[in-house]
Amino acid sequence: MSEKATLELNGQKYDFPLKSGTENETAIDISSLRNSTKGIITLDSGFKNTGSCESAITFLDGEKGILRYRGYSIEELAEKADFLEVAYLLIFGELPTQEQNLKFHNDIKAQSVVDEDVKKILDAFPKTAHPMGVLSSLTSALTAFNPSSVNVNSEEDMYKAIVKIMGKFPVLVAWTLRKKNGLPLDYGEKNIGYVENVLKMMFKQPNEDYVQNKVLIEALDKLLILHADHEQNCSTSTVRIVGSSHAGLFASLSAGISALWGPLHGGANQAVLEMLEAIKADDGDTKKYMAKAKDKNDPFRLMGFGHRVYKNFDPRARIIKKAADEVLEDLGIEDPILDIAKGLEQEALKDPYFVDRKLYPNVDFYSGIIYRAMGIPTDMFTVMFALGRLPGWIAQWREMRLNNEPIGRPRQLYVGATERSFVEVDKR
Ligand code: CMC
Repeated sequence: MSEKATLELNGQKYDFPLKSGTENETAIDISSLRNSTKGIITLDSGFKNTGSCESAITFLDGEKGILRYRGYSIEELAEKADFLEVAYLLIFGELPTQEQNLKFHNDIKAQSVVDEDVKKILDAFPKTAHPMGVLSSLTSALTAFNPSSVNVNSEEDMYKAIVKIMGKFPVLVAWTLRKKNGLPLDYGEKNIGYVENVLKMMFKQPNEDYVQNKVLIEALDKLLILHADHEQNCSTSTVRIVGSSHAGLFASLSAGISALWGPLHGGANQAVLEMLEAIKADDGDTKKYMAKAKDKNDPFRLMGFGHRVYKNFDPRARIIKKAADEVLEDLGIEDPILDIAKGLEQEALKDPYFVDRKLYPNVDFYSGIIYRAMGIPTDMFTVMFALGRLPGWIAQWREMRLNNEPIGRPRQLYVGATERSFVEVDKR
């Protein structure tokens, strides 16, 4: 292949170098475009064709359904690793040695206490507040309780900030749920695993011991691993762009949580369950909703279907579907919602509308089913997604700062009014 791409514009030719990634992907490096053409820019709404950075964290091939963190396949990681090992891998680039693994666990546990005053902020929220709004606010508030800025040139400083947020974030997640459920807040237990502690902090009743369930621990561990990173998606791009202004880690993460909240992104898992509930209330009429999804005059979309990059299948969905079956079987749950989900999936997979557009069930079509079986309320689903995505956001923020990336500042094509004179209000 040629080493350059040539643009011809008004009879003049401009050359742009090609860059190759380690998986043989090719990018046209247009960083000199505006200067050499004296002001011409590219226009790519939704960044469907635009790479915003070079990254060594996550590789995905949407056509082939491949997802790898730092070179390791998601299938292998979901089967063999635990969430904190994956977090370490994503953030620092290599799987931890036993010693590094133990230290990482211990350092995180040592940071798993949140300032008592954070409870006052939580108290000020109405119980009806959406948990994602609460989580984003509390994460941002952590900045006030940990005001020293991170010296990104110091590995030690960076490490301290990372274990701090990895330790405190699950506490905020659990408190968000406990506040909603009117339960007292506590700090969990130091001597159990990360995921066990999350479950215990969320569900322990004040007057009884919490009994761990191995199937639930494994399923949650898998869910968190599957959600841990997904290269330059909406929330990750948000974290990177906010961090590119040199805003702190916690503030950047808080912005990422807000981005994740939307129903086209992380909020889809909540939207899937709400959609399934609506179909159930409508006599389980899946055909009606399939027709609505295909009707171009109806804004309704089949939530949990389609993906910006996976145009074949979502590898995370395959793994999570299996985990959902195991959890439901272990808990002995027979859920009519699940039957509706299965019916919908089968219809969509053979419907030409969905087949032609390569719309397949994504990870969020199934994750909500597991969360529901675990007893997690629907509006907490996206919070669980955020808990899983945390190491990915941290890894991407760290990479962006270590690469000394410039501030993110896109251009635009102005299509508004041209210059005009101001008219005083009494003359309008
Ligand atoms: N139901 C019905 N039609 C759909 C759907 C859907 N879920 N998704 C896409 N389409 C149609 C869309 O109308 C368009 O049709 P046409 O070509 O006739 O105009 C075509 O498929 C292409 O859609 P698009 O909106 O251009 O695709 P996109 O890459 O911009 O959007 C998406 C990707 C995920 C936002 C979209 O598929 C969607 O809205 N899905 C439902 C929400 C959802 O499940 N989101 C979770 C994504 S996975 C979690 C995550 O990583 O955040």
